Amino acid sequence: MYLDKEEERMISGEMGEGLKIAMEIILKLGEFYGAERTIKITSSQISGVSYRNIGDAGIDLLRKFRDSKVSVKTYLNPIAFDLNYPHDFTEDENFISKQMEIVRIFNDLGVYESLTCTPYYYYTPSIGEHLAWAESSAIVYANSVLGARTNRESGISALASSLTGRTAYYGMHMDENRKASIFIDTDFTPDYYTATVLGLYIGNMFNGRISYFRKAENDLDTLKQLGAAMNATGSTPMFHVENITPEYRNSIDSEKEKIFIERSEIEEFRKKISSDIDPDVLMAGCPHLSSNEIKKIAGYVKNKRVKNGKSIFLFTSRKIKNENSEIVKIIENTGIRIYTDTCMVVSPLKERFSSIYLSSGKSSYYIGKEKRIVLADLFGILEVMMS
Ligand code: F3S
Repeated sequence: MYLDKEEERMISGEMGEGLKIAMEIILKLGEFYGAERTIKITSSQISGVSYRNIGDAGIDLLRKFRDSKVSVKTYLNPIAFDLNYPHDFTEDENFISKQMEIVRIFNDLGVYESLTCTPYYYYTPSIGEHLAWAESSAIVYANSVLGARTNRESGISALASSLTGRTAYYGMHMDENRKASIFIDTDFTPDYYTATVLGLYIGNMFNGRISYFRKAENDLDTLKQLGAAMNATGSTPMFHVENITPEYRNSIDSEKEKIFIERSEIEEFRKKISSDIDPDVLMAGCPHLSSNEIKKIAGYVKNKRVKNGKSIFLFTSRKIKNENSEIVKIIENTGIRIYTDTCMVVSPLKERFSSIYLSSGKSSYYIGKEKRIVLADLFGILEVMMS
């Protein structure tokens, strides 16, 4: 792989040990994927920041980069608890202090303490911008909805990119890899709820392939749910929706396998992964809630109360919570808790419950591996749990 003069200096160690390791990682990745060169990025997003995932070995690895600073806007995925309420999630002081050490190391590197899977609410990349993001739901949103370009990075390759300001030029960075190979028509227009079930269904059928949807509601939260669910079951880096997403025209003439999906088909699929029970808890906000979702929820729950014996937890980013502080008060006055910095999948909160109501395909996929879940429409669940 061709390296420019600055990259040569990085890899020689002349610019410090951290940059040397980072450039070596990018070179190895590039060679593995057959990249001929690197490309400069404008932003990076790092996953795998929970102590539960990376342990002491991960902390030791991060310490090797201590002489370095990030060179582009860099964001962090959620950790295992809300920084303001760690004891709502765990009593393990050692775990809390190790997790905080990880956050501090990233802070020292210049990484923004966003702790969210929705970095696009902090910074919205433009069409064609090259990124190195790691969170699966964020990369499919960036590629499909924003028209930016990113492969699905690992935590360590995203860190290497944030330090060097580069990534290897392959995969989703190149025009020819962004075209759809499946055409999907439906007898319904996927909305906020049906899109998440459809996403799980399609991801499950067409692992890694790019779909072209004939229709879907023109709503950012619906598209967010569709992509997050597809990438959970199918490692799908991108999708197109006719007349909606920025690059759909580039796929119109591509050779595509065609399928037609009926509403009843995805309902059958939902029933297979969802139990016929009535859990006492609802967890929503996967991916983290947008301002719009928070406003819709507030409009629905205003002047209601969570029923006795029931619990509702919502997850969003610190930025969105702060920006909507008055609306958050309306929601929390009903007995609902809104947490930031973490989520229902990466935190230990779910361990306290034997079954859970969920409104997103992605969280259903992951939590459904361990627990009984009910995947249903968010507002339908709120109707059942509030009075
Ligand atoms: Fe985000 Fe957690 Fe879902 S990181 S996408 S809320 S699994």
